[in-house]
Amino acid sequence: MSSYKPGCLLAALLVSALAAPCAAAAAPPSVTTVTIHADRPGATINKNVYGQFSEHLGSGIYGGIYVGEGSPIPNTRGFRNDVIAALKELKVPMVRWPGGCFADEYHWRDGIGPQDKRTVRINTNWGGVPESNAFGTHEFFDFIDMIGADAYVNANVGTGTPAEAAQWLEYMTGEQDTTLVKERKANCHDKPFKVAIYAMGNETWGCGGNMTPEYYADVYNRFATFMKTSQQPRPELLASGDHDGHTEFTTALMKNMRAGMDAISLHYYTILGPRWPDKDTATGFSEAGWINTLANTLKIDGYIKKQDAVMTAFEKKMPAAHKKMGLYVDEWGTWYKPEPGSNPGFLVQQNTLRDAVVAAANFNIFHKYADRVRMTSIAQTINVLQAMILTDGPKMLLTPTYHVFHMYKPFQDATSLPINVKTGTYKYGKWSVPQVSASAARTKDGAIVIGLTNLDPHNSVDVSTLIAGAQEGQVKGEILTAEAMDAHNTFDNPNAVHPVAFDGAKLAGNKLSLTLPAKSVVVLTLN
Ligand code: AHR
Repeated sequence: MSSYKPGCLLAALLVSALAAPCAAAAAPPSVTTVTIHADRPGATINKNVYGQFSEHLGSGIYGGIYVGEGSPIPNTRGFRNDVIAALKELKVPMVRWPGGCFADEYHWRDGIGPQDKRTVRINTNWGGVPESNAFGTHEFFDFIDMIGADAYVNANVGTGTPAEAAQWLEYMTGEQDTTLVKERKANCHDKPFKVAIYAMGNETWGCGGNMTPEYYADVYNRFATFMKTSQQPRPELLASGDHDGHTEFTTALMKNMRAGMDAISLHYYTILGPRWPDKDTATGFSEAGWINTLANTLKIDGYIKKQDAVMTAFEKKMPAAHKKMGLYVDEWGTWYKPEPGSNPGFLVQQNTLRDAVVAAANFNIFHKYADRVRMTSIAQTINVLQAMILTDGPKMLLTPTYHVFHMYKPFQDATSLPINVKTGTYKYGKWSVPQVSASAARTKDGAIVIGLTNLDPHNSVDVSTLIAGAQEGQVKGEILTAEAMDAHNTFDNPNAVHPVAFDGAKLAGNKLSLTLPAKSVVVLTLN
């Protein structure tokens, strides 16, 4: 791995400082102080916080993951070898499937049995294109098995019935020789599949049925009552919850909970508004687009806090033994205008350094709520919205977002550590955001891992860190940065943005100091 040299960016930074528009504020004070309490360990950061979402949408599955056995693209049983290897390397803990909006029109029987006999339907949500159902239940489990992930299956509530959802669960997880289990075996899978999360509908306030919170709370109870399985541990049951700053669905679900419920979902997309068509472009954006995106993404902190407050208020009235409700952020990430020339229903967008900073800032927030936010899935894995991977026929590239997920791998199942960040403010136009976002954790093998991101695209920041309870040790790190705010990888230059070793951090006793370059993500490991 090459190593980050501060001098390399100096010339570019001087040029960009000279060329900075007059709206840019003067450099803020550039010393940030961070205090980490290694002596006061918090909740475990569930590895599922690093989950993925793969919907039948555009080339998210067909072409992106699955090309079929007859494809000239190198594959194993129809799954792209390059994509499988990249996802395996990412240590993806969990994949959510089959939607999204698609889930509430998905009938699982369409996707089992011989592929040439499967029902073809129109994907009414995404581009109005034919859905071959070649990728169904068995293909999904084959896929997650290959990459080493667990299954989050989203049942159809909008156009389905409790019977259909219950029978799908029996088909997947049943052990005794019922007719459905025999059918699974006839379809070449003797052993039950393991379902970790079974969700009852998606966005029931919108594409999942346009329901009111109270109506859905009843529907949820009805569905959840019949989701029976002998699988141990039984799948977690997930209710479809709110989006953005709303809390009506969580309130109604908590208030009317009668059947088992392990978690409630929250969706939050980083979209520039105020109107849907006002979305930013994925590349070629201005500094206003940079800071506006970051200011918007940070709003999730307050939204999670609001959800947590509602859940906590209800939990206080429950018996002490009641398990803390999970808040599963099972759709998050940036949503820009589609790439010119692409089918607008396919939600294809490039992915830049801005997305990398967005991802890191979100992780730092999720870690803060580790006891509540025990699962998230970014939208979406491949070729859709804030993707890890983009493909074009046989070509594949890893996005800056992929690299941040890779850099943050040590946080999976680590113990969160309380952190206090005193940092300056980066301002531009009418927006302002903290310069530095950070989180820290103790890994299972005892190392301390620190994630830091500098949201300021112009100024580096000196970071002075005190780690209470840390021993003398060694520090190593990785950095992701680039000269342009919209730096990205292309099929012709797939390695333009990639992490390199960062040796700019100095550890003396329990004091750590470093200079965090402008618009960068750094992950440090202290052993
Ligand atoms: O991720 C794309 C879509 O966004 C999902 O299908 C839907 O749940 C959300 O509105």
